[in-house]
Amino acid sequence: MRKPRGCVIDMSRFWSDVVHGLTPYVPGEQVEGPDVVKLNTNENPYGPSPRVLEVLRSQINDSLRLYPDPVSAELRAAIARRNGVSPDNVFVGNGSDEVLAHTFRALLTHRDPVLFPDITYSFYPVYCRLFGTPYEEISLNAQFEISVDDYVRENGGIVFPNPNAPTGLALEVSKLERLLEANSDSVVVIDEAYVHFGCESVVPLVHRYSQLLVTRTLSKSHSLAGLRVGYAIGHPDLIAALDRVKDSFNSYPLDRLAQRAAIAGIEDVDHVARSARKIIDSRRRLVKGLHDLGFEVLPSAANFVLTRHGGRESSELSASLRERGVIVRHFRNPPRVAAYLRITVGTDAQCDILLSALRALLN
Ligand SMILES: Cc1ncc(COP(=O)(O)O)c(C=O)c1O
Repeated sequence: MRKPRGCVIDMSRFWSDVVHGLTPYVPGEQVEGPDVVKLNTNENPYGPSPRVLEVLRSQINDSLRLYPDPVSAELRAAIARRNGVSPDNVFVGNGSDEVLAHTFRALLTHRDPVLFPDITYSFYPVYCRLFGTPYEEISLNAQFEISVDDYVRENGGIVFPNPNAPTGLALEVSKLERLLEANSDSVVVIDEAYVHFGCESVVPLVHRYSQLLVTRTLSKSHSLAGLRVGYAIGHPDLIAALDRVKDSFNSYPLDRLAQRAAIAGIEDVDHVARSARKIIDSRRRLVKGLHDLGFEVLPSAANFVLTRHGGRESSELSASLRERGVIVRHFRNPPRVAAYLRITVGTDAQCDILLSALRALLN
């Protein structure tokens, strides 16, 4: 039916009720260009294993007419081999964002609130609003650290990244064990998106703590953000809950190319270790460069740093860097983080361009 002229129809009346209450996650922008230094989304500057690219080329053929393996059995087996667990301890999804979304749906939505830090991966509260999950944000301490004692209270689950994002601060495994000991009756999810850059993993603990679920991504350490592959490791009964949600949502979250390429990426252990080592070295160099310019930098175990300059507004620095083709991330919220910039560790050459731009701005 044609709309009468001058009559504005409110199309949002067609939305489901839940949609009105959503505050969607805003991803860092994907700016491209030969002269852009992109340090805003924690991508890996070194590119994926050549074996991944080879496998992708070999898979572009007539087999694409067929659906992929709905359970990604070979990929789960490869992840299991690499992590010293069995395939029924492994779940895979379309990026760890999807794995986390299914985790909130399958394991963290209860009467008691799920607990996570007030400064953390900002997708967690977004999932809560989507799924109607009660949640409580626990303040980081004055040094931006997670205090595990703050998580000893009634809860419907606990989730945070280790190292945390966007702070980059890591917790020792002994503290996470204390957290698990104190929370034997609720699921504890440790999001290890950045674990390869200098932090100890809790994956070995899944054999001792059946309530522990560890999530991982190939986006950072394996330089495969564009492939969209993430996974979780935990007790088979936790994995079964994730599979039930996945099979009620999308039977084929990982396409044929992604499954084969992810196996090649996971098996090229040397490539992953080499690029992580380079990033850790560049991080040390970047931190020194920032200190020399008068920046305060939180001690990071990730492929990014959270930093601020006492004399200059971070929002203003971010905008001025952008004018010079250097893109970093500035979060307006929460207020404690708004004072900082989150800068991805790029190659040494990229970090040098950033430091020169900052030097020019501060002068
Ligand atoms: C802490 C944390 N977890 C999970 C993710 C999601 O990663 P992906 O969906 O690319 O696997 C990110 C992405 O930046 C992250 O920072």
